[in-house]
Amino acid sequence: MTNKLVIILGSVREGRFGPVVGSWLAEQARAHGGFEVEVVDLADVELPLALPAAPPKLAGAEYPRPAGMAALTAALESADAFLVVTPEYNHSYPASLKAAIDWHFTQWTAKPVAFASYGGLAGGRHAVLHLENVLTELHAVTIRDGLVFPNYFHTWQDGQPLDADAPTRAKVVLDQLAWWADALRVAREKAPYPG
Ligand SMILES: Cc1cc2nc3c(=O)[nH]c(=O)nc-3n(C[C@H](O)[C@H](O)[C@H](O)COP(=O)(O)O)c2cc1C
Repeated sequence: MTNKLVIILGSVREGRFGPVVGSWLAEQARAHGGFEVEVVDLADVELPLALPAAPPKLAGAEYPRPAGMAALTAALESADAFLVVTPEYNHSYPASLKAAIDWHFTQWTAKPVAFASYGGLAGGRHAVLHLENVLTELHAVTIRDGLVFPNYFHTWQDGQPLDADAPTRAKVVLDQLAWWADALRVAREKAPYPG
């Protein structure tokens, strides 16, 4: 059975670089062959900051989400694995990504998440450290290896990273994600996650 990989573009900023990284990753993921790939761009999603009264964990399927969030919710629900593409804003990840996470709960549970980050000198690593922390709270399984693109403004050209090893590094992350996606899908099918 083919696992579904959902690539989430976390940046919604005007003039953002995120879609360049996201397109390249989607290309790598499709070439990898281990996944059905869907790209979700948070810029296309209605993401209010004001949440409903009940937490999504308790409200379950009845959680009252806006109509413009339905495609995101369906994508997260159907995913067997996630690849989150994030920039670094003030040593963390963008508010758009936090809103997308907080509007959901079970959709993340017992599923693997890998990260691709970009930024200045730290390559977005501060954002990823925070995301690992937050997603663990939702019972997601974060992958140790990730793709880091420091000083992306000097290290990408024509939609591609200049580093010749980047496709090899992407394959390593995708292989690990595929391994976890298989393992956790089988486990979820066998018994509901006790969390
Ligand atoms: C509000 C804001 C804060 C930023 N803070 C950081 C930072 O802490 N570290 C960093 O490496 N880059 C930082 N940057 C620069 C971003 O890495 C750069 O703008 C990048 O293009 C953001 O990704 P995006 O274009 O997809 O939105 C910041 C940019 C913005 C807009």
